[in-house]
Amino acid sequence: MKLTSYIIIGLSTTLFACTAKKATTTSKAAAPAASDVVAEIDSKYTAAQKEEGKTVWQTNCQKCHKLYEPQSHSIAKWEKILPRMSKKAKLSVEDAGKVRAYVLTHATS
Ligand code: HEC
Repeated sequence: MKLTSYIIIGLSTTLFACTAKKATTTSKAAAPAASDVVAEIDSKYTAAQKEEGKTVWQTNCQKCHKLYEPQSHSIAKWEKILPRMSKKAKLSVEDAGKVRAYVLTHATS
């Protein structure tokens, strides 16, 4: 009885490990191309909104460190950094969206 439980636990751990690995691979492959990201932004944000994003970025993104220029990171890298930093800067969802629109438009691809 005890042995059976160990085998079951062992098996489910192995299964879980496989599933987790698969999920990671899939999400990586699903990352959109840089050009798609820029197209998405252009369809959702006007030039005026991007300018507002620039102001929000200048005001809020140099409180803890120097102001990192959009060109300092690639789009892929920004997509990883921005959600975390927008939270740190306590930006509203709307402002975070505008900052993302401004920064990604000028980021290296
Ligand atoms: C409350 C403080 C705080 C605010 C506000 C803040 N940051 Fe940061 N930022 C940090 C800290 C701490 C680090 C270094 C550690 C880390 O990466 O979490 C960092 C790192 C970074 C980096 C470097 C990441 C790397 O690995 O190269 C970038 C780029 C950045 N921040 C951008 C921003 C932007 C854009 C904003 C505005 C939306 C912002 N930060 C607002 C604290 C802050």
